[in-house]
Amino acid sequence: SVVSMEKILLLLFLFTISPNALGDTSPFPSNFLFGTASSSYQYEGAYLSDGKGLSIWDVFTHKPGSTSDGSNSDVTVDEYHRYQEDVDLMEAIEVNSYRFSISWTRILPKGRFGEVNLAGIDYYNRLIDSLLIKGIQPFVTLFHFDLPQELEDRYGGWLSPQAQEDFVLFADICFKSFGDRVKYWVTFNEPNLHVSVSYRIGIHPPCRCSGKFGNCSKGDSEKEPFVAANNIILSRAAAVHIYRNKYQTEQGGEIGIIVHSDWFEPLSDSVADKLAAQRAQSFSVNWILDPILFGKYPKEMETILGSILPEFSGNDIEKLNQGLDFIGINHYASYYAKDCISSVCESGPGTSTTEGLYLQTAQKDGVPIGELTPFDWLNVYPQGMRKTVNYVKDRYNNTPIFITENGYGSLYESNNTKEEYLSDVKRINYMSGHLDNLVTSMREGADVRGYFAWSLLDNFEWTYGFSVKFGLYHVDFTTQKRTPKLSASWYKHFIEKHRTES
Ligand code: NOJ
Repeated sequence: SVVSMEKILLLLFLFTISPNALGDTSPFPSNFLFGTASSSYQYEGAYLSDGKGLSIWDVFTHKPGSTSDGSNSDVTVDEYHRYQEDVDLMEAIEVNSYRFSISWTRILPKGRFGEVNLAGIDYYNRLIDSLLIKGIQPFVTLFHFDLPQELEDRYGGWLSPQAQEDFVLFADICFKSFGDRVKYWVTFNEPNLHVSVSYRIGIHPPCRCSGKFGNCSKGDSEKEPFVAANNIILSRAAAVHIYRNKYQTEQGGEIGIIVHSDWFEPLSDSVADKLAAQRAQSFSVNWILDPILFGKYPKEMETILGSILPEFSGNDIEKLNQGLDFIGINHYASYYAKDCISSVCESGPGTSTTEGLYLQTAQKDGVPIGELTPFDWLNVYPQGMRKTVNYVKDRYNNTPIFITENGYGSLYESNNTKEEYLSDVKRINYMSGHLDNLVTSMREGADVRGYFAWSLLDNFEWTYGFSVKFGLYHVDFTTQKRTPKLSASWYKHFIEKHRTES
């Protein structure tokens, strides 16, 4: 039967987990955070309840054609009403941390142009308290893509320096309301990815598209992605300034930022391809972290972009210098990078060209870098975890690292029976391989303090809607019933094993 098959598979996995990860003594310190991650728009639903205002994602997904399956996240997994049940599920798999984000429009429905919504504050108070009762540490993101629509309408969101004032107000309210209990703060989730998809290639709201390195001819200013990132970087500095000066001493927490970190392997040993791989990192991870830690944009960006890249004033540089308590890494996939400056790059299926920068491809001479998945941007190259962590460690002087997301998304095929869908062996292989490589990087000296699986539950995957599922738990979206997949028990056993050993 399916059930006994699952048990057999699970036993097999428990005994075949790499000895590297399960030596006699656990490589994970006893205060290591094992958790699951989520975000407000993808989880909460209740998009108009109790005074919440509209975010750019609420408005975007109500326009036809925005998501591949026509869905929106009005209800999704209904976390706003079901958080207690899900905290119980977290307790059941023995995680000691939960990463979630705060919906800006639940707290400030119209940004600074309206009142604070006390019902929103109350919701997060209840969520935080129910986590702490179970010994689960809240790990809280302030911005995870859902900007208030009001701020987009009034001044163009992140394109305007005015957004800095709004973000700081929002952050201040959150520190003041929740900082007595929240000890881990993340200012921004993946600003590098956010500005690329929202201001360069135009597929996420506000759907702006830039001529420079974009794939559209819509003609929005080529400066926009870089201006948006600049305003985000300065907003982060201002919020951290407030935290350091008003709250941190008394509250004793930490504040960091999360970057989207793919691994880029040079396609060949040529110097040109090695430089292409470096450019890929510069236009991604280093774009955000260099200004924070070194006070300036990466050299490659300055050289290639010239006057397109905003400049930091002396005053800005002073503000930037707030230190960084930790770097959050969201790592999922790896690619080859090929030079596109000395040679012309032709993109084909599975590749994308950032004209004049590099060609990104998951295959070399027809051989994939790792197992490909039906989900176009995801592939399974577990060594990418070790390489990414070591890269970030070396470049940023071993700043403490949390793996704030890692996970496996499967395309949901409606002809699959639920039982088949629950035996998610590929997800277990993916996580186990990535955790092994994480351990290797820790043994090599990386200061890694936590790992969060994306995600506890199947949920709304942005423009893919509900067609891709990342959950350790299956969700039946008509009944809201949660059912553990094999990976949920695997993760629980992995955590248990390390708890008893450390
Ligand atoms: C990154 C994002 O932070 C999250 O919102 C998304 O669902 C996952 N990766 C999977 O794509």
